[in-house]
Amino acid sequence: MAKVYVTRPIAEEALTALRAEVEVELWPEPEVPPPHEVIVEQVRAAEGLLCLLTDSIDAAVLSAGERLRVISNCAVGYDNVDVAAATARGILVCNTPGVLTETTADLAWALLMSAARRTAEGDGYLRAGKWQSWSPQLLLGQDVYGAALGVVGLGRIGAAVARRGKGFGMRLLYTDVERKPEVERELDIEYVDLETLLHTADFVSLHAPLTDDTVHFIGAEELALMKPTAILVNTARGPLVDQRALAEALRERRIFAAGLDVFESEPIPMDDPLLALENVVLLPHVGSASVATRTLMAKMAVENLVAGLRGQRPPHPVNPEVLSS
Ligand code: GLV
Repeated sequence: MAKVYVTRPIAEEALTALRAEVEVELWPEPEVPPPHEVIVEQVRAAEGLLCLLTDSIDAAVLSAGERLRVISNCAVGYDNVDVAAATARGILVCNTPGVLTETTADLAWALLMSAARRTAEGDGYLRAGKWQSWSPQLLLGQDVYGAALGVVGLGRIGAAVARRGKGFGMRLLYTDVERKPEVERELDIEYVDLETLLHTADFVSLHAPLTDDTVHFIGAEELALMKPTAILVNTARGPLVDQRALAEALRERRIFAAGLDVFESEPIPMDDPLLALENVVLLPHVGSASVATRTLMAKMAVENLVAGLRGQRPPHPVNPEVLSS
């Protein structure tokens, strides 16, 4: 039986399916990832690795994993894996796209609505006993219905976020490295350059992958292009945004608010300037966190891993060129 290292307890039914096929070594802590040196040690004997976005699968892991054939990342993003180095070693890398699209788009909308209508702030205000009366000027936010939504990265999740905007009568804009004519037709969404998107949109929602080219894609200059009433939502990856510049823009009210599920460093340090601000809604990277979706992701990660170990084409290879070499 092939040996597999699993870096966190995932949905039980997925683990049971995996155990029927391979010998599983499991890191037991649900909320604490294994230290990097533990992964390095564990991959020495493993042919397969089922990991999460919290695990850095870098040169040290890859060179320790002399027997490693498949890395199955239980996430759609795979910026935590050095895919080029894995490919060079003939190691297959897989991810879990598709199953989390709608769940993540829902969460982007939860942040958008919450930041616009100040729901987290309102909840805190009420619980703190500050509510004295209905007041004409209390917790005034921004309208969502009929506003302009700018999507940065019109992939599966970006398109799902835009599709929801239609129900809110929104004007839809997007920018991407390439035009998406089919989605443009389906959603009546307009392609614009980043600059136009930033100064036109009332809501800017980020859905680009994290690559060398997208680090700090939204920095001080880009924030300066946004309207003072605009709201930034990030459910993609934290480093897309220069977080320090964002905190400054929010503190100086140069934009109205932000809703963030992802951060430059996760978990966000408790002394981060964002935590002192009221006009930002912060969530602990839970975009795909529904019971059903996390189960589907775990099952897909297991399917990818088992197929790859059997020498079959897995449902979602990231570097399929490894299969033909
Ligand atoms: C979550 O962030 C994912 O990439 O699946």
